Amino acid sequence: MSNHDQIKTTAMDYSKNRPPAENPVKVVDLSLRDGHQSLFATRGRTEDMIPVAEKMDEVGFWAVETWGGATFDAMHRFLNEDPWERIRTLKRYITKTPFSMLLRAQNLVGYRNYADDVARAFVERSAANGIDIFRTFDALNDYRNFETVASVIKECGKHFQGCICYSMTEPRIGGEVYNIEYYVRKAKELEAMGAETICIKDMAGLVAPYDAYEIVKALKAAVKPPIHFHSHFTSGMSPMSHLKAIEAGVDIVDTCMSPYAYRTSHAAVEPLVMTLLGTNRDTGFDIQQLAEINEILERKVLPKYKHLLDDSKVSIIDINVLLHQTPGGMLSNLVNQLREMDALHKIDEVYKELPKVRKELGQIPLVTPTSQIVGIQTVNNVLFDDKDERYKMITDQVKDLCYGLYGQTAIPIDPEVQKKALKGYPRGEDPITCRPAEVLEPELDQAKKDTEGLAQDLDDVITYALYPITGKRFLKWKYGKEDPPPEVKPRTLEEIEAENELIKLAKLGLLVRKPEKKAPPKTDALRTFNVFVDDEYFEVGVEEPGGSPVISYVQQLPVQAQASAPAPVSAPAPVTPAPAPVKSKPAKPAPPEPESSKPAAPATPAPSPVAAGVEGAPLKAPMPGMIVRYLKQVGDAVSKGDTVVILEAMKMENALPAPAGGTVKAINFSIGDSVAKDDVLCVIG
Ligand code: CO
Repeated sequence: MSNHDQIKTTAMDYSKNRPPAENPVKVVDLSLRDGHQSLFATRGRTEDMIPVAEKMDEVGFWAVETWGGATFDAMHRFLNEDPWERIRTLKRYITKTPFSMLLRAQNLVGYRNYADDVARAFVERSAANGIDIFRTFDALNDYRNFETVASVIKECGKHFQGCICYSMTEPRIGGEVYNIEYYVRKAKELEAMGAETICIKDMAGLVAPYDAYEIVKALKAAVKPPIHFHSHFTSGMSPMSHLKAIEAGVDIVDTCMSPYAYRTSHAAVEPLVMTLLGTNRDTGFDIQQLAEINEILERKVLPKYKHLLDDSKVSIIDINVLLHQTPGGMLSNLVNQLREMDALHKIDEVYKELPKVRKELGQIPLVTPTSQIVGIQTVNNVLFDDKDERYKMITDQVKDLCYGLYGQTAIPIDPEVQKKALKGYPRGEDPITCRPAEVLEPELDQAKKDTEGLAQDLDDVITYALYPITGKRFLKWKYGKEDPPPEVKPRTLEEIEAENELIKLAKLGLLVRKPEKKAPPKTDALRTFNVFVDDEYFEVGVEEPGGSPVISYVQQLPVQAQASAPAPVSAPAPVTPAPAPVKSKPAKPAPPEPESSKPAAPATPAPSPVAAGVEGAPLKAPMPGMIVRYLKQVGDAVSKGDTVVILEAMKMENALPAPAGGTVKAINFSIGDSVAKDDVLCVIG
């Protein structure tokens, strides 16, 4: 045996047989939830968790986070997976380690406050399906939003963890709002509510190491429950913050297996294990065992997700987080939104407007969904305001916030902004001060009625109650009433290997290029599509030979006729049945259009194509999004500024006002349709 081998064996023996530490740091693994949510847009599939599940159960984690956050949304919307089934499946492989989920308090796993009956049912079913620890947070740190869920968690005999969302307004902890006293006060509120553990939830990697030390010390001195520290790597500070938090006596920290670590995700577990080896905070984990899990993830799982990694830049640190004290994910959303609207050059204006909007909206923490609420309103202000008028286009969510539907803000909302937002607000122009869910009518019975004949159990009903449009579409896929589109199917390792082979050939110059054809001139019938292939992006123009006879108003008709188009939640009064599509340019010969002449699916309200020469003001989509509902029907009279359409963009609902007064002449889309920027949603004449 060589000297080198001897040393290795000794080190490994030491690692295996070391005495237990006095006060080991407890560790939660986040790979199966926050890890892939942060790095791979929550696209992790259950089948890719199974290969490591049993091994992860052996490590000795305090808990594994397997559910909640964005998983519920992403699974039923993009992966054609039943979210409830994931818990049950993983429970068969992970039998010893408790399951943790991220619960957005009264927002559950969605983006708005749900009624108490839905909240109760959701927590009960989560517990029954196998969730043990409910990490609960509220975006405003308004713990009245915990009341309903916390009591059900306890009734079910499960662990209630209360979070304090970490937020700041200065480069370091302090200032008027988010200072040490604030965090101590919040921790005491949680202790009084019966939280079994208290988590400092730093969703953006904002906590600086010495602030982590100070805050953990203060909390350990002020309250009894164990302190849990959750931080993201994003800014690069989290491994240092972990260490300082551990020195200050933190009880539990969160990490990922290294293939799921770093960037906007979390610090990796392996360096932490080695850092603490032999100290009084030693985790006791077997580094060899972790290496085996890594091997499986690296070879069999991560190749399927690598294409989702944002590798647009080399650096794994987001310096903007340090500069703006703002979540990296929120900043990249802003950039994407501006890019989609051809307004990327306005990014500096957005950075300038952001702290202003945040302050006017009550200096709220920036976390889902408040980060989107503040972010999108900021973009709207930059794009649509002029020097005479601010807050020209206020999103429905900002109106709800101003009404008090999300809870109490850290400081009062600017009274002028609040007044403007609440003008004509359907629930009333005076904001509420009670617990928000108290003004919400029960929702579960209606959800049961709406899903009669489709939902097979309460879990199905809840899926629909949380996500009426995409949830119903998922239930149709689940029960074979509709075929899921190909993009929701998983990719296999074989497909990835075949793709890699092609890339290799291309790099070697061995892919034969087709002989070039001379392109015909473009006509005004050209439609552009964004096509994403792995990390490459193409803009592709498509037009029918001979020129399309369809005017822009009815371009979306073929989409509506497809079986995969989601059905509406509540069908509005049917408009005039769709006649054959109208030709806008009769002079040109029209090629047959089999798809658009198909009758609309029975449940779908027939779109009303615009007749040739319909005069009027088009209401165009200011941004790409999904139609949530039309508030007006064809024939309805509208005044300029009346809300006509609700468009969901970046998970926020935007109320689009009528560009002119008159009568609704045409409505061109159905509920659930995706629309591109500048698509004409309706015509008012
Ligand atoms: Co997180």
